[in-house]
Amino acid sequence: MANRFDYKRAREGIFKYMGAETDGFLSRVDGLIEKYSQKWQLTDLNYMLTDTVNLLFSCKSTLHGLCVLKMCIPGPEVATEINCIQAYNGQGYVKLWDYDLSDDILLLERIEPGNQMWDVQDYKERARLMAELIKTLPFIKCPQGEYPNYKIWMEGIHKYLTNIGGMEDVLFYLNEALRLYSELKQQYTRSCLLHGDMHQENLLLNQQGSYTIIDPKGVVDDPIMETARFLNNELPCSKKKIQEMVAIMAPTIKVPKDDMHKSMYIDMALGCCWTLEEKFISQESFEKAKSEVLADCRFVYEFILRH
Ligand SMILES: Nc1ncnc2c1ncn2[C@@H]1O[C@H](COP(=O)(O)OP(=O)(O)O)[C@@H](O)[C@H]1O
Ligand SMILES: [Mg+2]
Repeated sequence: MANRFDYKRAREGIFKYMGAETDGFLSRVDGLIEKYSQKWQLTDLNYMLTDTVNLLFSCKSTLHGLCVLKMCIPGPEVATEINCIQAYNGQGYVKLWDYDLSDDILLLERIEPGNQMWDVQDYKERARLMAELIKTLPFIKCPQGEYPNYKIWMEGIHKYLTNIGGMEDVLFYLNEALRLYSELKQQYTRSCLLHGDMHQENLLLNQQGSYTIIDPKGVVDDPIMETARFLNNELPCSKKKIQEMVAIMAPTIKVPKDDMHKSMYIDMALGCCWTLEEKFISQESFEKAKSEVLADCRFVYEFILRH
C-alpha cells in the first residue's frame, strides 16, 4: 500500500469511541487491507486524510473503477448505514458496491471531484443548494424496523445521563427537546428513512455539478428532521446567519421557519448530549465538554424562546 496511515492521529480520534479497545482495532487494519484487497481486487490504496474517526482509503477496483474503502468503528450504526445506502439505491446517495458487516467494512463508489459542501464559500448559496437537494430527494417510506427514531435516540441518551448523575442542567435541555419533538409529531407524522447526519462534510460534489449524499446514520422519522444537522453544523456563527439560511430554505422545502428551528433544537440537544457519552481522559475535560454543551444548547434554545 502506498500511503500507510497516520496511526497517532487516527488513534486520538478513535480513542474517544473505543477507549481501551482502540489498539486492538488498529492492530487489525493492515490485515483487513490485505484481505479485502484480494477479495474485492483493489489496487492503489491510499489513506485519506479526513477529520473523522472512521478509516477511509481511496482505491481502484477492477470491477467498479474508483472506490473508497471505509473501515468503520464497530457499532449498530454500521448496519443502519449499509441498509440506508442500499435502500436509496443510488438515488441521491452514493452507491455501495460491496460490504462485510462482520468486519465493519464498506466498498463505496468514489465521488469525483468529491469536494465537501464547505467548499461553497457563500453560506446563502449553501442554504440554497441544501434546500434544492431536500426538495428533490425521494424520501423513502419506511417502517421502524431495525432503525431508531429521534425519540429512541433521545431516550437512550437521557437514560445514560440520568444514570451518571449530576447532569440536571443538561437534562433540562434534553427534556425540552423531548417536549418539542412531541409537539412537532402532532403535525409531522410521516415515517421515512432519513439520513440523520446530513451536513456539509457528508455532501460531496459530483460530476454532474450536484451533491451526492454519503455516510448516513439511518433513522426513521418525519423529513422535518432532515435539515437540522446541516444548520447546526454552521455553528458557531451569528443568530442572523442562521435566520437568513432558514429564510432561504423554508419556502423551497415548504415548512414553516419555526418548525425548522424546533427540529434544529432537537438535533442540537441530542448531538450535544451524545458528545458527553464519549470517553474522556479526565474529569476536567468532561467538565469542559459539558460547559460547551450547555452553551450550544442555550444558543439554539433562543430561537425557540423567541416564539
Ligand atoms: N465515496 C466517497 N467519495 C469521495 N470522498 C469520500 C467518500 N466517502 C468519504 N469521503 C471523504 O471522506 C470523508 C469522511 O467520510 P465519511 O464516510 O463521512 O466518514 P465518517 O463516517 O467517519 O464521517 C468525507 O467527508 C469525504 O470528504
Ligand atoms: Mg461523515
